[in-house]
Parts: sequence; structure tokens; C-alpha cells
Amino acid sequence: MSAIYRNSPLPRYYQLKEIMRERIRTGEWKPGDLIPSERELGEKYGISRMTARQAITDLVNEGLFYREQGKGTFVSRHKITQQLINLTGFTEDIQARGQRPSTKVLSAQMCPADDTTAERLRIEPGHLLFCLHRLRLANDEPLAIEFSQVSFMGCEQLLEEDLQQNSLYRLLETKYGLPLMEAEQELEAGLAGNEEAHILKIPVGSAVLFTRRTTYTDRNKPIEYAKSVYCGNKYTFYTQMKREQLLP
Ligand code: GLP
Repeated sequence: MSAIYRNSPLPRYYQLKEIMRERIRTGEWKPGDLIPSERELGEKYGISRMTARQAITDLVNEGLFYREQGKGTFVSRHKITQQLINLTGFTEDIQARGQRPSTKVLSAQMCPADDTTAERLRIEPGHLLFCLHRLRLANDEPLAIEFSQVSFMGCEQLLEEDLQQNSLYRLLETKYGLPLMEAEQELEAGLAGNEEAHILKIPVGSAVLFTRRTTYTDRNKPIEYAKSVYCGNKYTFYTQMKREQLLP
């Protein structure tokens, strides 16, 4: 499709979306490319700016485009992929996609472990942990909310760290000498509640992915139990599987 058909039963914004998708599929528009403005698209396809805006906004929401304030709208590098084979953190995942990670610390404090957290981190309930609530962004777009609970001897020193500017994993490994070796992670589909929707700037009831991760250091000691909520339309989780045994 390369033109918008007035007599088509398909709405015009939808036809424009298909045209733009095709440009990406064929490689005519490459990741990082600036796409034409609403006005240019409107003129080229004989549609209103409003219609062009609706098509662009939909593709931003689907993660195919991203906006940079004052600069325009660009083609994304693909949805962010969190591969479930190697243990990586948010900063690494986003950088691997050629995007710019950033963080807003919502709160950072010492708090007592509840029963589930205590079990995951193999400590007594009520034990004080470093609790970090962060909004994670890629190219200034909210992507996930993460609630990390960290336990190690001296973890209260993390209160002094600038976690807005620094990766937690990097700090733990390079400054605290705690190499992160493995993790277990559960994924669950869900819908954004009021608070999540507000922080992630998505409509209440949007699809989200909940993850729960326990991360271990080389001595097989759990160090972090993290609960995260990812925008469902901006993230892909990727895993590889090997068959251990063939069916008889
Ligand atoms: C992932 C994990 C979190 C972890 C974070 C570390 O997103 N789900 O459990 O805390 O990465 O990311 P960073 O090193 O960028 O702080």
C-alpha cells in the first residue's frame, strides 16, 4: 500500500499506519531515522494533521516509534528485548538496543522484609533491607517500574548512592565487589492499576508484564528480590529452549 484510498472501508489513520509499517518492514525507514512531521505526512497523503497524528501516536504506543521532545519522532530499534539467557540489568538491556536508559528514583529507604521477601532472600522476616522504588525510562519514555529489595552486610550504604545516575548492578559489582551470577525470574501478564498507569503514563487497564526476580551472587547467596511492572507493548522477553529428551 502506498496511497490512502478515500473509498476504502479502512479508516485513513489505519491506512497511514500500514504505509508506515511497510516503510519499516522494507528497510526504507531504518531504526533511528526521523520520520516526516504530521504536516508533511498530511500533505503527502492528502489527510488532516489530526489523522496523521493519530497514526503516529498509535505507532508510538506500539513501540515502533519514539518521540524526542523538541526533535521529532523516530523509528525505534525494535521493542526492548530482555533476553532470559544471560543475566543482564535494565541499563544493559536498553544500551544493547542503542537507546538511552534513565531512572527516576521514587523512593530509597531501609524497610523490614515481609514473609515472601524473607523467604526469597533467605533471611528472617523483619530484617532490614535496602528498598528501592524506581521508574525506568528509555529515551525518556517510561518503560518499567521496579521495586528492588537488596540484602547484604552493609546494604544501608546504598542509601548514600546516587541511584538516579548509576546502575544498581554496576554499583553492586564494581563498588561493593558483589558479582551477580544467576537469577530466577517469573513472568505474569496483568493489567495496569491506577498507580502503575499514572507512573508509566499509560491508560488504566493497559496490558503490563509483572516480573519477580531473585538475583544471586557467586556464592549462590540471594542478594536482590525485585518486583517489576513493564509496559506490555514496549517489551519483548526472549528465551531459548533445548529439548533434553526426545519422546519415546
Ligand atoms: C532488571 C531487573 C532488576 C534489577 C535491574 C538492575 O531490570 N528486573 O531486578 O534491579 O535490572 O538494573 P540497573 O543495573 O540498570 O540498575
